[in-house]
Amino acid sequence: MSSTKTLTMAEVAKHNTESDCYLVINGNAYDVTKFLDNHPGGQEIIVELAGTDATDAFADIGHSLEAQQDLENYLVGPVSDAPKKGKKAAAAPTQVPIRDNATQPFNPMLVVIPLVAIMAIAVAYFYK
Ligand code: HEM
Repeated sequence: MSSTKTLTMAEVAKHNTESDCYLVINGNAYDVTKFLDNHPGGQEIIVELAGTDATDAFADIGHSLEAQQDLENYLVGPVSDAPKKGKKAAAAPTQVPIRDNATQPFNPMLVVIPLVAIMAIAVAYFYK
């Protein structure tokens, strides 16, 4: 199954049951009907979102890379009017990287002290 077809959200919305279940994730429609029984998170959670855009739900779980790659097995095609996901991108900066103040990135004294020591030894050697 390498051929894909472009859908609309209205078309995807028709596939909203347990026996005919599409999801939209990141602008693509996926037919996950056959996957429902195998979903490690349970089928109910997916059926609840059947026929809708599940991008945020899918991302919020923090699905593994394997799960993200698995998606491709169920691809139907791109959705022309899928919601644009600016929301997540705007929220991202709230995740400020944690800085560990105990470990300084670079201490110049670590270079200066050995350098002075080497120079002192060199001078002592030279003038002995
Ligand atoms: C076709 C779409 C999906 C695929 C291929 C998929 C795949 C997977 C896989 C492989 C796992 C096991 C953990 C991992 O590898 O990340 C998982 C767990 C889970 N998924 Fe999905 N998933 C899909 C859609 C969804 C959706 C739309 C939801 C809705 C919120 C969802 C909720 C969960 C939950 C709650 C777990 C359990 C997490 C845990 O117990 O730690 N999944 N999914």
